[in-house]
Amino acid sequence: MAVLIIGAGLVGSQIARLLVEQGQRPVLMDTAAQRDALGEIVDLGRVELIEGDILQPPHLARAIQPYGISDIVHTAANPMLTLGAQRDPFGAIQLNIMGTVNVLEAARAHKLRRVVVASSNVLNHFLAGGEGKGDPSKEEAFPRPTTFYATTKQAIENLGLNYARWNDVDFAAVRYGAVCGPWTGQGGGGPSNIVREAVLNALRGEEAVVGAGGLEWVYSKDAARGTVLALQATADLRSRVFNITMGRVTTPDELADALKAAVPGARVRIETPAAAAVSAPQMHHASDLGLAKSVIGYQPEYDMSKAIQDLVDWFKAKQK
Ligand SMILES: NC(=O)c1ccc[n+]([C@@H]2O[C@H](COP(=O)([O-])OP(=O)(O)OC[C@H]3O[C@@H](n4cnc5c(N)ncnc54)[C@H](O)[C@@H]3O)[C@@H](O)[C@H]2O)c1
Repeated sequence: MAVLIIGAGLVGSQIARLLVEQGQRPVLMDTAAQRDALGEIVDLGRVELIEGDILQPPHLARAIQPYGISDIVHTAANPMLTLGAQRDPFGAIQLNIMGTVNVLEAARAHKLRRVVVASSNVLNHFLAGGEGKGDPSKEEAFPRPTTFYATTKQAIENLGLNYARWNDVDFAAVRYGAVCGPWTGQGGGGPSNIVREAVLNALRGEEAVVGAGGLEWVYSKDAARGTVLALQATADLRSRVFNITMGRVTTPDELADALKAAVPGARVRIETPAAAAVSAPQMHHASDLGLAKSVIGYQPEYDMSKAIQDLVDWFKAKQK
């Protein structure tokens, strides 16, 4: 019995590390795993790393049968998430929606124990409408996602919930906040990369730039922990969708202060780079962590100060 982690990037690598720490030997499947970056997070001698494409059902079968897979964690993502999906809607729709459907079908065919799929708290923020106040007789009853990426995440949550309802697939979705954390490869979203660049610039003594909008974050180690909690929970999963974030909106000033505390003397400028415009809306409210706490036992361990300190320590340790 083993866990198949699809997508070996910023978050998938941390999930693998946690499972290895539990004594498991997870299987990581990726179309283009970045071995060097991955090896900085998890001991590659203690995982199975295989090449495979979530859009190819035979690749899933080849991963599931030989390795005795019981569970799948799906973290594969389109490049640059929200920004990437605005540039290439077709590719993102194909990967996010059909990739997830392939996983759900594989779970049904192979009678897997549970599937956990990475969703996003863009669904708590990138919404418009809903003036019908939930009255289904009105066209504007429900709020709708305002970006392609959020639309794909809403679709995969809905599809997973229907596979759970009608096809006996034990499904859960974890809605991460914007993720930052240790990772030297490509991947993550616009905000993930802005924080990494800001930390690296501060450590080099160069000006660090952080985005102007408030954002709801999660540290990648917490994202992974929330995912493993959703995977291993024995309680009734109830809504099956869990917010996995820091539980608060971090303002640009708080992010700048966290950076200055972790790197004394850091020079930080607050600015919205043009490319981040879509991925950094003003977020005024934090996601409710009530269900995540009560059903799967998730509480964030990292606020932004602790997260930035951990990230700075990680990069410093690498430089030695
Ligand atoms: N990073 C964030 O800020 C953030 C925020 C909220 C939600 N999420 C979600 O969390 C999940 C993980 O994100 P991440 O930041 O670790 O992404 P990432 O880009 O670091 O990793 C995704 C991995 O998926 C792989 N992949 C892409 N296409 C594939 C395919 N066809 N088959 C197999 N593997 C494929 C990529 O090669 C990459 O290694 C995604 O579902 C993402 O939408 C991320």
